[in-house]
Amino acid sequence: MCGIVGYVGTKAPVPILVEGLKRLEYRGYDSSGVATMNGDGSVFVHKRAGRVRDLEHSLPDDLPTANAGLAHTRWATHGEPNDANSHPHLSHDEKIAVVHNGIVENHSSLRTMLMGEGVTFRSDTDTEVIPHLIARFYEGDLETAVKRALRLIQGSYGIVAMHSDEPEKLVVARNGSPIVLGVGDSEMFVASDAPALVAHTKQVVYLEDGEIAVLSPEGFRTTDLADRAIQKDVDELDWEIEEIERGDFEHFMLKEIHEQPLSIDRGLRGRAMADFGDAKLGGLNLDRRAFFDIKRICLIACGTSLHAAMAASYLIEELARVPCSVEIASELRYRNPIVDANTLYFAVSQSGETADTLAAMREVRRKGGIVLGVVNVVGSSIARESDGGMYIRSGPEIAVASTKAFTSQLLALTLFALKIGRMRDLSSTAGRELIHALNALPDQINAVLAQSEAVKTIAHSILESNYVLFLGRGGNYATALEGALKLKEVSYIQCEGFAAAEMKHGPIALIGKGTPVIFLCPQDHLREKTLSNMEEVKARKGRIIAICNPDDERVKALADAYIEVPRTHNLLTPFLTVIPLQLIAYYAALALGLDVDKPRNLAKSVTVE
Ligand code: AGP
Repeated sequence: MCGIVGYVGTKAPVPILVEGLKRLEYRGYDSSGVATMNGDGSVFVHKRAGRVRDLEHSLPDDLPTANAGLAHTRWATHGEPNDANSHPHLSHDEKIAVVHNGIVENHSSLRTMLMGEGVTFRSDTDTEVIPHLIARFYEGDLETAVKRALRLIQGSYGIVAMHSDEPEKLVVARNGSPIVLGVGDSEMFVASDAPALVAHTKQVVYLEDGEIAVLSPEGFRTTDLADRAIQKDVDELDWEIEEIERGDFEHFMLKEIHEQPLSIDRGLRGRAMADFGDAKLGGLNLDRRAFFDIKRICLIACGTSLHAAMAASYLIEELARVPCSVEIASELRYRNPIVDANTLYFAVSQSGETADTLAAMREVRRKGGIVLGVVNVVGSSIARESDGGMYIRSGPEIAVASTKAFTSQLLALTLFALKIGRMRDLSSTAGRELIHALNALPDQINAVLAQSEAVKTIAHSILESNYVLFLGRGGNYATALEGALKLKEVSYIQCEGFAAAEMKHGPIALIGKGTPVIFLCPQDHLREKTLSNMEEVKARKGRIIAICNPDDERVKALADAYIEVPRTHNLLTPFLTVIPLQLIAYYAALALGLDVDKPRNLAKSVTVE
């Protein structure tokens, strides 16, 4: 899950490529590199371990003036992050440069074959076999050589290749890793994701698996590996570059936490029908009959999306009275799943490119299942390959630690639960009550955000802890898992989330004097039970931090510290209880001086299995 960028046109490529890499650095940030052509027909390469800013600062002043180039920011899979393993990688004659996002699964046998033919490798990467293979087949036409090389490659790839003898051409190929082309005026762009393009053009083309594109200043043409021409649509990006700027916020994570009132409002607009207590969801591609045939719902996801799906499963069962299961995508993918016609599947993903979720969706569809996408990134693979779905309208999410996508995914699935519930036993009164509560969320989230200083104090109080426990019941069990994931991701503090009642079955052994235990305890139907769990922690001198409602004196009396969240519909409390947990993680990471937006070892979109 690296970020690749390419340019061919009339401008100097390196500044455009470096700017593009900065926009994609959330995809991987352990090393980076850029390549273009020197005047003498050789390839200019500059690459190193570290951030894109390190690459930029180390660039020579006199850059080549060619009009094409390619670049890469890396999330290492094969070969540690160092200068030699950084991309671009060159062919042995140094005339071909390649950047790659994905994994060449048969790289070791290809490496052995190539070494047998006298090729010397300069890196430990799987990727380096690609430029050597292209050189092996090169007879003056890069496109043909790339296609012949790709026929030998097993695995996933998004690649850009160039040859110094064909200075105004880039060859791009996709199989499993996202590739989007940018159509400019006498120039063409290519990248792993649209943020690298939006500053230059809004005209984009999404490549599908098995497609190859040849880019030149005049434009592009696409074929498949068998040279069959493919007609492509040019789409228009519907967002502005400002949306991927940090603005006045110190970090994208904080900006995106504060954008949740807006993203919830956007997610409700035109979908929540207050008069009828119902929801209108275009894009599901389900006719009325199909809704009645749904006997089970299965939500498939990873990471934060999995937690949003878990929280939503409680709402779906309660509102729609349909059994709802939640599956870890990678587990479902390899479990030879039993797929039946009366189960409706959802692939839930912010990026829409997560390899595990994409593969699980394909497996379920291969077995005849209907899979709808709940996705943020417009035009992403899951959005394009699913049988229909909902965009969650969060707007671009840049910080690696997902925040606003959690509440927006939960909202989209809540509206689906409302829709199917209203087609069954849910009354219009109950529907209107729910929509009334949903419409109040943006202001209520703002009320929680206004307590940031109090949250910061709590965050600072757990910095020394070597273990933090998050506990909740019902939908807030999922929120507890999400709170722990956020703290892990950005502060590296050891922590766990558990269903509150599960604590007695083991985790309670980890509670000693002062161990921080964060309870999600809104005044819902589970509060009494959660209160007894708080008593159990108190008895073992744990330090109780409670997320509770303003007028809950019993919880406040038990807690060593607390954050108030407004009262809302019993089923909607995760929308509010998650906010302090996102902020606790943010302020803890900030206080520890960590890179909040680019935590170690992580990447925004996990496009390899
Ligand atoms: C969350 O903060 C992480 N970035 C990660 O767990 C993420 O949620 C997971 O990789 C799924 O990503 P997706 O929603 O884009 O599919």
